[in-house]
Amino acid sequence: MTKPEITPISPVLGAEVRGVDLADGIDDATFAVLHGAFLDHGVLLFKDQTAMAADVQVAFARRLGPLHTHPAAPAEHDDPAVFLIRTHRDSTISNGNGWHSDVSCDEEPPSATMLQVHVLPDSGGDTLFADMEAAYATLPDDLRARLRQMSAVHASEHVYRGRYADRGAVDEGVTYPTAVHPVVRTHPETARRSLFVNPSFTVGIEGLDDDGSRQLLADLYVHCARPEFQIRHRWDRNDVALWDNRRVQHFAIWDYWPHERCGHRVTVQGDRPFFDPDGEDPPPSPLRMSLGRLA
Ligand SMILES: [Fe+2]
Repeated sequence: MTKPEITPISPVLGAEVRGVDLADGIDDATFAVLHGAFLDHGVLLFKDQTAMAADVQVAFARRLGPLHTHPAAPAEHDDPAVFLIRTHRDSTISNGNGWHSDVSCDEEPPSATMLQVHVLPDSGGDTLFADMEAAYATLPDDLRARLRQMSAVHASEHVYRGRYADRGAVDEGVTYPTAVHPVVRTHPETARRSLFVNPSFTVGIEGLDDDGSRQLLADLYVHCARPEFQIRHRWDRNDVALWDNRRVQHFAIWDYWPHERCGHRVTVQGDRPFFDPDGEDPPPSPLRMSLGRLA
């Protein structure tokens, strides 16, 4: 077994992993350590990596579950499980340049996403991650109680229609997914609760009128974007990020045009988001009190 060295990035979210090169493949004991760290920290950032062969990346992702099929991504790689992330001079839009949880519009959205970036701009192209467990835990009690009763609609027509036309994807006759998910979801592996709405896919809260829905979502997004919940990853070439879409949102900053950024993404199929009313809310935290005083 290779002994991974795991160093938290903030007390809230994320850890750097060193001492293991994923390109070499990993054994079961190493995977068990990494899986535990993934559940503990929500985002793992693997440093000092070499470029993984596609089948090695796919094999790692498969240890976390069956793979997810993206509803819109163009088939550009020999292995259909690999989604090419590529933004360059001629791009008119960039993947993930806004807060989201990957493909939350699916009935069963991805649990985990694994991305290795092979080509980077000289500067820029950082990725932000935000912990929606901390966001949930720091809301006032009465608001959390209301949110626990709510469901939201996640749509994707507005996100995906025509999005990959310049990469050969034809979507005539394609229906893009829409799903209704609980606003507060229970993590299927840790049982912890998190907020599960995001400004990219969530189009409304069920049972509220348009204004009420828009206002509540806007308030939640302001809260979710607080820096206390975030880490910012400044990529080195071949870094690998592995994040838990059931817990975090991310934002791939496109501040480097006309330069290029390319990588390989493999995504793991998750289960249907659910809320367990028998679970427990996290205890009051000083962070909640502090945010309350600032509001
Ligand atoms: Fe994403």
